Amino acid sequence: MRVTSSLFLLAIAALSQQSVQAVSANVQDALHKVAKYSANSDIRPGAFIVELDGEPGSTNVQAIAGSATSSFAKTTSKFTVDKQYSTLFNGFSVKTTENFDPIQLAIAARTSGSLERASRSVLLTAASTFNHPELGNCWKTFGCMWQLGYDLVGDDYDPNDPVPVIKPGPHPMDCTGHGTHVAGIIAGQGPQVIGVAQDATMGMYRVFGCPKNGKGVTTSDDVIIAAAEAAYRDGADIISLSLGGVSWPEGPSAVVCSNLAKKGVVVVAANGNDGASGLYTAGAPAVGSGVLSVGSVDNWNNTGGAADIITPSGDKRISISLSSNENIPFVFNPPAPIAAAVDSANSNLGCATISQDLKGKIALIQRGTCTFNEKVVHAQAAGATGVVIYNNVAGAISPSVTDTTVTIPVVGISLSDGQYIVSALDCRGCLSQGSEGETGGQMSSFSSYGPSAELDIAPRISAPGGNIYSTVPINMGRYGSKSGTSMATPYTSGTVALLKQAFPKYSVAEIHRVLINSAKPRADAKTGKNIHPVLERRWSGQYLRCHHNPCTSVSADGVEGFSSSQSVRWAVRTIDLKNLDKKKSARVSFSNSVADSLSNWNADGSFAVNPRVWPADASGSQGPTTLPQVYVPDLQYYDILEPGEKRSVDVFIIAPYGLKESDRWFYGGFLNFTMTWSGEKNTAKSFTVPYTGFNGNYRQLDVLSQPSEGLPILTDTKGIPIEGTKFSVTDTTPAVVNFRLEVPSRIVKVTLVDMKNTSLGYVTGGYLEYVPRNLQAAETYLYTALVTKRVFQGRAWHEAC
Ligand SMILES: *[C@@H]1O[C@H](CO)[C@@H](O)[C@H](O)[C@H]1NC(C)=O
Ligand SMILES: *[C@@H]1O[C@H](CO)[C@@H](O)[C@H](O)[C@H]1NC(C)=O
Ligand SMILES: *[C@@H]1O[C@H](CO)[C@@H](O)[C@H](O)[C@H]1NC(C)=O
Repeated sequence: MRVTSSLFLLAIAALSQQSVQAVSANVQDALHKVAKYSANSDIRPGAFIVELDGEPGSTNVQAIAGSATSSFAKTTSKFTVDKQYSTLFNGFSVKTTENFDPIQLAIAARTSGSLERASRSVLLTAASTFNHPELGNCWKTFGCMWQLGYDLVGDDYDPNDPVPVIKPGPHPMDCTGHGTHVAGIIAGQGPQVIGVAQDATMGMYRVFGCPKNGKGVTTSDDVIIAAAEAAYRDGADIISLSLGGVSWPEGPSAVVCSNLAKKGVVVVAANGNDGASGLYTAGAPAVGSGVLSVGSVDNWNNTGGAADIITPSGDKRISISLSSNENIPFVFNPPAPIAAAVDSANSNLGCATISQDLKGKIALIQRGTCTFNEKVVHAQAAGATGVVIYNNVAGAISPSVTDTTVTIPVVGISLSDGQYIVSALDCRGCLSQGSEGETGGQMSSFSSYGPSAELDIAPRISAPGGNIYSTVPINMGRYGSKSGTSMATPYTSGTVALLKQAFPKYSVAEIHRVLINSAKPRADAKTGKNIHPVLERRWSGQYLRCHHNPCTSVSADGVEGFSSSQSVRWAVRTIDLKNLDKKKSARVSFSNSVADSLSNWNADGSFAVNPRVWPADASGSQGPTTLPQVYVPDLQYYDILEPGEKRSVDVFIIAPYGLKESDRWFYGGFLNFTMTWSGEKNTAKSFTVPYTGFNGNYRQLDVLSQPSEGLPILTDTKGIPIEGTKFSVTDTTPAVVNFRLEVPSRIVKVTLVDMKNTSLGYVTGGYLEYVPRNLQAAETYLYTALVTKRVFQGRAWHEAC
């Protein structure tokens, strides 16, 4: 088939439904070479998870997997069923060749009528343990804290390989230090690291291999499902997952964790470290319903290492945070000179090569613009013996250095300490003092934002995750500080373990309520005084019950359905108040604690790469000029709840008014119920319930990036734009449709149409469901679909509903 561009119209429609994608690996590689864009890197080529209709265990998975295999036996695509699941997930995982388009699965499944959906296999980042003296130094022996778990994958596992190597070792030993660090936060036995829940019986299921080719480790959701099923069968009460990938609650790992929660297991999962990209960056499995998603706040006390800065005017001890290559110790004896690196672009960022002679010196480089790896590689090439990276926003950083060619030690320091050194180098003495933990208690800048693609609040709670001191494997120096929602997650899991110990009968929902209703709103990092936007954190308490699921959120659908001419938009939610004290009556008062608003759009309606916070980012833009208001007419001033009394109250939430439809803000706050028990003076306790809403017409948001971004664009497989009016394609030289989503979309279709605008069918990879947004700040810039000679006909399953 020859296609001329006049005949060729691409329709990319974003409607409503599920996700599947096949992207050829060499096309992905080619696209990485395009300067401005890189292809979505979190998809495992040729791998799918197939979810069948019905509850786990209700379907003969083996029979369906067998008939799917035989129905594809005659096609050119290799189709192998890998893992089958029936405990927490109803389905199986599939490996195919790269030319397999999942739309074929959809068409086959429609005939059998059994398929719920086929999802792309998503790669998840982060990790497992080591024996460590402060972690018992034992494995499954009598009296050992480690009683459960095993290695599911082995050192050589890499889901990016065409055929990943699975060679499990005898113990779930950790390669990167991540698992050991996380384990120390839950159950470190001291003396240096004292875990939150020292008496917990622990299990460890290893799902990550070792880093290779200078890349960070990833795993795939087929392994996560197998690990979750194993932990469940072993009787785990709490499952802590310091891993994830931006996704929908319909993603397989989220579905599995929701099923775990339904079966009474408390699942705690990292909300993600993509905060720099703004809204909708929460990951799966954290976004699953019933999963306690955890954001990160910075530590007050940066216990990392320390370095002495020696200047003519005196010495100063500063905190340093180890980087992920901490197995190379940052030790200089005698002290090494430090030099502010200047790259060939005359910048202190080290993103271009450095011609300055840094031989025998420690290079000081600022965070930003390019990866930590690139900065360190440039400094090493210039002869540096070590690298100190200083932050570009307040607070400490732990740089992630995974390039295996790096042989010099790297540490991170705070912005103020970096500026201290810069000024010491500049003027020898005119120094200002930095303070440690200056962002202590504030949300960490990397912590991912909600809402989930289904508009639920995420994270549900936050915990210390920025600059946390814990155990690392012995060969990496035993102890070190790391940052991430990966660190906040075990802190929360340990807290849940203590709650479970004190209240063994608490259900998953009760544990969520106790934590969420009694947590405290944080000050906004930007203003230092207002309440931080709800979508980056939240809470609840044993005195509050809610009818709705999600019980405590007023999501955008709560304010939908009002025409734009109506000036007042409002929603009602019912909340149960219960006085759990059986002897004393309690006086209740209510107030509305309004939080800052968040937007991922600029004043002109274009998408903002960095989220804006109102009122901190007020300059030149419209923001909500009125605050959301809340009325609780059922509650009189200082109402009394008798001992044990339960009362349901309706809460009316009124959106800020006077805003135009184009002013797209997620507003929100905390409903604040304060109880004072009779006979107790000065013992008022406040319980908060977060709420959020969206101003604007959600259905009219631009799903695709602005044409001014140069997207969508048709390129060849090398990423070179196709120009002119004619081009021809073959299966090996397809044309590539590159596009970017600014908000999550339930369905994305790329179809080929003729001159009369009649659809010829979907192109390869042109039918995607439950698609997360692309992140500008991470390597998930683009989606790609391939125009080959093949188009796929037919409607996908479920589209009729
Ligand atoms: C910070 O942590 C260190 C080491 O655990 C401890 O000695 C010190 O008291 C802590 N400081 C504060 C302010 O908590
Ligand atoms: C909730 O109200 C109480 C009593 O007025 C107040 O002390 C507390 O600071 C409020 N909490 C929030 C988060 O605003
Ligand atoms: C082609 O058809 C689609 C829907 O079928 C429509 O949305 C689109 O506007 C049409 N394009 C042109 C150029 O007519």
